Amino acid sequence: MTETAATLQNDIFLRVAKGESTDRPPIWLMRQAGRVLPQYRALRAQFAGFREFLFHPAAAAEATIQPIDELGVDAAIIFSDILVVPEAMGLPYDMVEKRGPLFPKTIQTAQDIADLISGEAAADNMEYVYEALRITKRELNGRVPLIGFAGAPWTIFAYMVEGQGSKTFAKAKQFLYREPALSHLLLERITDTTIAYLKRKIANGADLIQLFDSWAGILSPAQYREFATHYIRKICDAITEVPVTVFSKGAWFALEDIAALNCQVIGLDWNITPQEARARVGDRPVLQGNLDPCFLYADHATIRAGALQMVQEFGPKHIVNLGHGLYPDLDLESVRVFVDTIKAYRY
Ligand code: CP3
Repeated sequence: MTETAATLQNDIFLRVAKGESTDRPPIWLMRQAGRVLPQYRALRAQFAGFREFLFHPAAAAEATIQPIDELGVDAAIIFSDILVVPEAMGLPYDMVEKRGPLFPKTIQTAQDIADLISGEAAADNMEYVYEALRITKRELNGRVPLIGFAGAPWTIFAYMVEGQGSKTFAKAKQFLYREPALSHLLLERITDTTIAYLKRKIANGADLIQLFDSWAGILSPAQYREFATHYIRKICDAITEVPVTVFSKGAWFALEDIAALNCQVIGLDWNITPQEARARVGDRPVLQGNLDPCFLYADHATIRAGALQMVQEFGPKHIVNLGHGLYPDLDLESVRVFVDTIKAYRY
């Protein structure tokens, strides 16, 4: 059973996502679970690796709730990773210490795509994620809403073809140029899986869904429209139960297209001003973002001033966040100053 906003003690995040007005903006932080919390590192140390941690739903629930206890943010995000989807489709990865994800096998041929598991069958392989959502929901006990998430199809495609992180993702982009038909086939299968997966996340307690298109910014506007927005649209059209946030990092060039989607919230990175973003998306969508994470390396007075300037520039219909995830070496006290400044602010 999903909890309704009415049973939540703090529903400011959901109310703003649904377009209601509130006396202050809500705040949560991308990558708030993990990264800056000492209690996360202690929990992480109990597991041989990152994947072992993810496969332990009670530990994932604990990591999800840590930032609620420690920072008092207005929403929790389920502790998981976007790469659980390719893994469930039959393409396993390793999380290599200090290097990031590495897929021993990548997608290169039509046969590789045919061999993948997709849709409901792939969603069946992520029961451990749904279990983490159920435990989290029980332990949160209505304190704040719970965000479920997935990578957007293009970003998942990029990892499945490239096999690892990259500055250029040249192999993944080469595949788009050389094999457009196969690219669409693969994106279609990722999209089907993502929809089935997100529907189950919602059935198990996710109150809002965020799509992370982390590698949006490396495509041209034409490629982004053909290979990314098209599939994000399918997901937004399929998810009707809860609000959807689309965070396409670096895709300022596609803002008008994103604003035309069936999504309630648009995530922004720091490469665009609040004023320009609002002018380009119009009045309807809620905006989320967009302080440069590096701003939190500044002294506390500068952080307070920057936070206030940002909320004033955005005005209402805004969810405060960073323009990308927290960096691991940020000082926890500086993060706390940012959160507390926003929570004390009134329009
Ligand atoms: O937001 C949260 O706090 C919830 C948890 C979360 C993680 N990954 C945990 C994680 C979320 C929402 C993600 C999303 C994710 N994963 C994205 C999209 C957001 C973004 O940053 O652009 C991407 C591209 C990934 C893929 C990924 N996972 C990479 C490239 C890496 C290695 C480098 C890194 O970011 O730390 C991961 C590992 C990962 N995912 C860790 C955590 C806490 C660190 C692993 C560890 O503790 O050993």
